[in-house]
Amino acid sequence: SSEAISSESHATDDAISKLPRRGELFLYKNFWFRRVFLERIMLLQASFKARDDDVILATNPKCGTTWLKALAFTIINRSRYEFSNHPLLTCHPQQVISTIDVETPLNGDLACIETLPSPRILATHMPFSLLPGSIGIQGCRIVYICRDPKDAFVSWWHFTSEFFREKIDIDVAFDMFCEGISNYGPFWDHCLEYWTESSTKTDRVLFLKYEEMVLEPVKYVRKLASFLGASFTSEEEDGKIPEEVVRLCSFNTLSALNANEAQVVQRGNIVVKKSAYFRRGKVGDWVNHISEEMGRKLDDIVEEKLRGSGLVF
Ligand code: A3P
Repeated sequence: SSEAISSESHATDDAISKLPRRGELFLYKNFWFRRVFLERIMLLQASFKARDDDVILATNPKCGTTWLKALAFTIINRSRYEFSNHPLLTCHPQQVISTIDVETPLNGDLACIETLPSPRILATHMPFSLLPGSIGIQGCRIVYICRDPKDAFVSWWHFTSEFFREKIDIDVAFDMFCEGISNYGPFWDHCLEYWTESSTKTDRVLFLKYEEMVLEPVKYVRKLASFLGASFTSEEEDGKIPEEVVRLCSFNTLSALNANEAQVVQRGNIVVKKSAYFRRGKVGDWVNHISEEMGRKLDDIVEEKLRGSGLVF
């Protein structure tokens, strides 16, 4: 009932208010979150029911979520849509797959997720350790994409300052990021949790790197398809379907579409310009926004945090 939902959300409010806080961010079980996302994470932990054929796309913010959504959607639905008349030509990738911790209604009504037909593709920025328990129990397939932290930081700073209209001093934000204090951070712990899981459960977690995908997109599209149980057939290979998938989902194609240039997209209770998800799409753009010295500092921190894990950027 609405009364039960409202008393639950008060309890969540109270629990969040008691957490350690830095500015807009709250520390919950070793990760920092803005309140709106944390409220949804708590709701989802309490009531999200995974299905065994769910595919979960997991990312740190600004590491390639939009791209991964486009690729997974296109691969899984390729027998349903012609490339010449494809939903991604008219719908933003953020509109075809929902990020559950960004878009779940704050009143806890999960109908928009529960009514989706199987197999569902759902995205999240949640750290592995905070995923709702049923995702683990059902053994859902998880695809994770990570990115050089310097580029992810710069991408996030632009997104937040230009598109959320929050003016944040880049030096202050950088120092906090280096301390591990960023939305869904520490950045490296987020990567490390999925990395560790992917190295022991290769059939369950696929760990991808943005930079490697930019270099060899067709190779990674094949890998993604095979992981999702939807390998390309030899006829599809002959018909250059993997290449078509790469082309449709590329930064150049998607960012030039009218559907992704004008207007805004409603995401939960926030409204974002569609073009905000397509800025430059380049590897190494950080050099244009932070100093070499800052770059080295972050590299050193991340290297130390990841030492011994086998994960390198
Ligand atoms: P930049 O800000 O460096 O350009 P997310 O989708 O997780 O929010 O990440 C956004 C970043 O991915 C942005 O990086 C954006 O430009 C880039 N991006 C969006 N679509 C892409 C695509 N199809 N291919 C490669 N990069 C893409």
